[in-house]
Amino acid sequence: MPTAVEELMSSPPVTCPAHASLSEATSLMDRRQIGAVVVTDGAGVVGILTERDLLRAAATDVDPHTESVRRWMTADPDVVGVHDQVDAAWSGLTHHHYRHLPVVDHGDLVGVVSLRDLLTVAQIRPAGESGADVPRGLEGVVVAETSVGDVRGQQGFYHYRQYSATELAAAWSFEDVWHLLVDGDLPDRGRAAAFTAEVAGLRDLPPGLAGLLPALATSGSPLDVLRTAVSLLGAELGWPAGLDTDHRDRRAQALRLGAVVPTVLTAVHRLRHGQAPVPPRPDLTYAANYLWMLNGAEAEPAHVRAVEQYLILTIDHGFNASTFTARVIASTGADLAAAIVGAIGALSGPLHGGAPSRALAMLDDIGTPDRAGAWIHDAVVRGERIMGFGHRVYKTDDPRSVFLRDVARSLGGELVDFAEQVERTTVEVLAELKPGRQLYTNVEFFAGVVMHTCGIPRDMFTPTFACSRTVGWTTHVTEQADDNRLIRPAARYVGPPAPQPVPAP
Ligand SMILES: CC(C)(COP(=O)(O)OP(=O)(O)OC[C@H]1O[C@@H](n2cnc3c(N)ncnc32)[C@H](O)[C@@H]1OP(=O)(O)O)[C@@H](O)C(=O)NCCC(=O)NCCS
Repeated sequence: MPTAVEELMSSPPVTCPAHASLSEATSLMDRRQIGAVVVTDGAGVVGILTERDLLRAAATDVDPHTESVRRWMTADPDVVGVHDQVDAAWSGLTHHHYRHLPVVDHGDLVGVVSLRDLLTVAQIRPAGESGADVPRGLEGVVVAETSVGDVRGQQGFYHYRQYSATELAAAWSFEDVWHLLVDGDLPDRGRAAAFTAEVAGLRDLPPGLAGLLPALATSGSPLDVLRTAVSLLGAELGWPAGLDTDHRDRRAQALRLGAVVPTVLTAVHRLRHGQAPVPPRPDLTYAANYLWMLNGAEAEPAHVRAVEQYLILTIDHGFNASTFTARVIASTGADLAAAIVGAIGALSGPLHGGAPSRALAMLDDIGTPDRAGAWIHDAVVRGERIMGFGHRVYKTDDPRSVFLRDVARSLGGELVDFAEQVERTTVEVLAELKPGRQLYTNVEFFAGVVMHTCGIPRDMFTPTFACSRTVGWTTHVTEQADDNRLIRPAARYVGPPAPQPVPAP
């Protein structure tokens, strides 16, 4: 019974300006016989005012003629996309106990969907039948609570804790944002210096792993080797089952892993190319040290900052496949290394983290701007996916891509101009051949351009992503372990009816 929100919503929505008084809003709701109005400020949605808010105001002695809607509305409400399935609206409403959700199309308000609208298509299941049907790929399903961060796909916005991730990337260092995730706040100057020194002191490989790396380095891709290395690291450092650790242990392990992953990956890269690993330098920042260990030379400040911003932007991103994987493993009480090994496996897939090198390979293959249209057209007609485009959650510009496009522009170079031309062509071709799917560039497209321009080799693109994402994964694992319940969903059986007689052997 998949039904799009578009088919159920009330449109156009009834709106009320944020500066209106409560009595004006009440008479509007009364006249239109509705239980909520969407509050706007200029063109944008800033809140929703419901009967519940009016009741709260009535319980105080405020004057409804002078009291503004802005003060009593629910600010910054969740919104649902016009093309989303009703399941997404259900989960939005039930998760927050809302009764109304604004509906948007490319960020523009186009309607309101209410619990009453959704009940018109609700399905009643026999009592006792376990499980609820969920959309394929768990799209839009809320499976946990987190205070690490969130992604608002319709608005093209994501945040770490309570701060916009792109604003953090514009102004703060990687270590400061790491502190925000691990310890919950942005540090002042003194604590920032202490934290930076703390993590810089954890970069060295333990001796057992350092001894094994030369033999392992060529056994697979850098990410394959990282999986094995993280397993070995957990064993060498004697990390116990997560169930047997407390928050302090988890924090210490999270920092150790976050600090050492870049050392493992850069050592593996160099060993694969017949070069000796370059030991970490505690006097360099995380990003500067990464490029130092990779290339054996200090990188230009502009390249260090560009890579640092990429790393900040990719620390966390909601309940993506690898983060979910890490949390599922952590929920079994397994140790941190086990959770991160699983997450690295999930990240390695081209539909998740494995796309940036493929996006660059595509640019190579296209060769010149005039070939882009035909190349993309033919690939989509053959049923292929264009790497670096499309996203499960973003149905508008991916804010990471917008940020990285600017970073790429500031670095300059022919590749950037070419990539922008291909981006424009691809968006146009996809809009024509896949109408309504809302396919734009995701983080991977310009990530490849930025990393290439900063001297990171292609086979290190996804590993570089793994470095920053380790900080996100470990934060999620800690959060899961701090308040754990085993994650154990169900599947709908669709095979031949059971039981059938078991044939004789
Ligand atoms: C990221 C991704 C897996 C999200 O996909 P999703 O939410 O599961 O979307 P679906 O796979 O259901 O695709 C929806 C439709 O859009 C199309 N589509 C999605 N991404 C596409 C892409 N990059 N190129 C061409 N078509 C694409 C699908 O073919 C499908 O079309 P259909 O309805 O005709 O079958 C998908 O966009 C993709 O494969 N992108 C390319 C890989 C990539 O860049 N990964 C990095 C992600 S950060």
